[in-house]
Amino acid sequence: MKTPVADYLAHVLKQCKQNDQGALADYIPELASADPNKLALALSTIDGTSYATGDKDTEFTIQSMSKPFAYALALKHLGLESVLKKVGVEPSGEAFNQISLDAKNKIPKNPMINSGAITTHSLIHAEAGADRAETLRVFLSELAGRELEFDEQVYRSELETAFRNLSIGYMLRTVGVLDEDPVAIVHGYIKQCAIKVTVKDLAQMAGVLANGGVQAKTGKRLLSRVVVRQVLSVMMTCGMYDAAGDWLTTVGIPAKSGVAGGIIGVLPGQIGIAVFSPKLDEHGNSVRGIEIMERLSNDMGLHLMEGTPSAQTIVQRRYVVAETDGNNQTVVYELRGVLQFTESEMLLRILEDEPEGDTRIILDLTNISLLHDVGARMLFEGVNRLIEDGHTAVILDAEGILTEAQCKGRKTSVVTEPLDRYLEKQLKI
Ligand code: DON
Repeated sequence: MKTPVADYLAHVLKQCKQNDQGALADYIPELASADPNKLALALSTIDGTSYATGDKDTEFTIQSMSKPFAYALALKHLGLESVLKKVGVEPSGEAFNQISLDAKNKIPKNPMINSGAITTHSLIHAEAGADRAETLRVFLSELAGRELEFDEQVYRSELETAFRNLSIGYMLRTVGVLDEDPVAIVHGYIKQCAIKVTVKDLAQMAGVLANGGVQAKTGKRLLSRVVVRQVLSVMMTCGMYDAAGDWLTTVGIPAKSGVAGGIIGVLPGQIGIAVFSPKLDEHGNSVRGIEIMERLSNDMGLHLMEGTPSAQTIVQRRYVVAETDGNNQTVVYELRGVLQFTESEMLLRILEDEPEGDTRIILDLTNISLLHDVGARMLFEGVNRLIEDGHTAVILDAEGILTEAQCKGRKTSVVTEPLDRYLEKQLKI
């Protein structure tokens, strides 16, 4: 059987091709000569599977879609507290290139509008022998899984007409948000916008964010969960500029657009999406891109506010192991799925039914796919209370899903060998 997903994506693209509205960005001369008919869509799942259709190999410049990743890099190097001193997190409701500051704090309102993005660029810690734009290019290449390049022509073209961004740079230098030469910073920011990507690259990058910072294909963690949460929050509230409210209500996933016609969307824990079509609306967002994203969100139930209900089946099986160990009974709780607050609460309620006594109780995590910190805390608390009731209780973590931090100081309650071997030893089978 062939999965219908690729056919579905091609079908959506074909339908949205008919929309001819919008105009090419012309304030960057080179972008005004783009082919307005180009159209592409790619999707990347959190297990590393990719789908792409349309002009999927066409390269275009990343433009403002570089902003969330530059923000991620600044957060990674400096930490949240330091970054928040320079750039806020409030939606501005203004155009992307508004010359503005937060009235109270006198810093840019958020890292998605240009004043915040230029400031964020200045916060990137340049690697030895590289400038900030090059450091970001290397990082984006790692996210995309291939070596990306700068589009020198687009870079030079934007430099010729960068008056607005230079004004923003001088304004930021005047109020002390920037403490270096604003021209060099603005040029670096413009260079970061000129990195060439395809929708496939962007879907991979968005997929890393969807996967909590881990690149699915290599299993390598490129960003911490805390950084990803911060970046996605800001994308959700500010990523679509003065169309953010419309976007949140209709599409409902964190996103970022770029004036070359790209849009990325991230559905946490599920997929990364990228679309490309160069004609833009009055906010600087791709017209067909928005239509495609709306369509995917509706068809595929992607809107975050629809929520993902808990599977409500945390205990896959409870069984009693044949008694071979004197009088003690051994009971195994085989757990399955995701263990967050809802599932942990459910599990602890089920364990309430275990009568006081001296049963050996094993909570088997082998089939748990994701263990949230709150899930781990509640699990250990459950073990403590079972012990208080007279039982011998352990958590069996043969797959090593518990992190060091989660079991700090509680390792005696954790068994790391497979269930059969543990039972063999305990019950002398
Ligand atoms: O700052 C600029 O003008 C561009 N290099 C990037 C702007 C952009 O992509 C706005 N987003 N839709």
